[in-house]
Amino acid sequence: MPEHPVVAVAGATGAVGREFLQVLHDLDFPASEVRALASSRSAGKELPFLGCGEVAPGNLVVEEMTPASFGGVDIALFSAGASVSRKMREAVVAAGAVMIDNSSAFRMEDDVPLVVPEVNPQDVAWHSGVIANPNCSTIQMVVALKPLYDLSPIKRVVVSTYQAASGAGAPAMAELYDQTRAFLEGTPEEELVIDAFQHRIAFNVIPHIDVFMDDDSTKEEWKMVVETKKIMGDDNIKVAATCVRVPVLRCHGEAINVEFADEVSVADARRALEAAPGVCVMDDIKNNVYPMPGILAGTNDTYVGRLRKDPTVDHGLAMWVVADQIRKGAALNAVQIAQLLL
Ligand code: A2P
Repeated sequence: MPEHPVVAVAGATGAVGREFLQVLHDLDFPASEVRALASSRSAGKELPFLGCGEVAPGNLVVEEMTPASFGGVDIALFSAGASVSRKMREAVVAAGAVMIDNSSAFRMEDDVPLVVPEVNPQDVAWHSGVIANPNCSTIQMVVALKPLYDLSPIKRVVVSTYQAASGAGAPAMAELYDQTRAFLEGTPEEELVIDAFQHRIAFNVIPHIDVFMDDDSTKEEWKMVVETKKIMGDDNIKVAATCVRVPVLRCHGEAINVEFADEVSVADARRALEAAPGVCVMDDIKNNVYPMPGILAGTNDTYVGRLRKDPTVDHGLAMWVVADQIRKGAALNAVQIAQLLL
């Protein structure tokens, strides 16, 4: 990997794609060139870019993504959907670039590392051209679980998610805005535009993210189960997940109950979380301080609050975890993986 890589952002016009550009700037990623790629619909469009590394601030002209787009590229940050990732994989790898893919296309393949830099940075070493970025809900959960796991093996996790609309992409955020406005203006239910989700998201919560599986769980829930085991490198961790969409623009919340093999005190857990990279403990209930999506959009850390004993199991703790899923759950985590490659 050159010291100043050429970076392609695939899906640059999307919610995560735009955030890739922001994060490259924020981390001053040492790129020699940044290319913005999207569908033919966006070709020629200009995206403002604040610059990073050797790239000066200015507008990036979006190019149509084709297999030929990756000549000379060293790192390709992908967030254009699983089918696009599958279509482009061969061309990206053949061009000698490393694909860091935000989609679910390759996450569970044996030769594809699934990486959260705070948890399993060592796994980037064995990639063969593709590194997968985990599901957003999984990322923030494992960032909070890892320092606790280091105190005692984790036997079981029960998690309920409160997931923001932006997890479904930029059009879903627009749908939440527009529907909320239309709802408040008294638009009849049957005239509301419902496109990004199965039901109205304004003033509602929807316990359905991604498709249903044979066992009646959703694919989003399944991802949290299998991805957690792969990232943590422990097949014995049991995860029970319920994933719910809520009318929040950015940042997922997660109520997490953890059962350990050995006793872990709240004080020890707090100390471990406070010392952990990428974690910010925000837990002062006397002053009503705890993490909330409404105050954490645009942040990088995984915030942990409401830390307490779970007395219903042996060796149990409960906590509430919030992170900006477009940043830590997607763009930031991917750029941090790129930093590991350097
Ligand atoms: P475009 O804006 O041109 O449609 P989001 O997840 O926010 O919906 O963003 C999806 C991103 O993936 C956008 O940048 C979108 O580009 C891009 N994209 C979608 N389909 C394709 C495709 N077939 N080829 C290239 N880029 C695509």
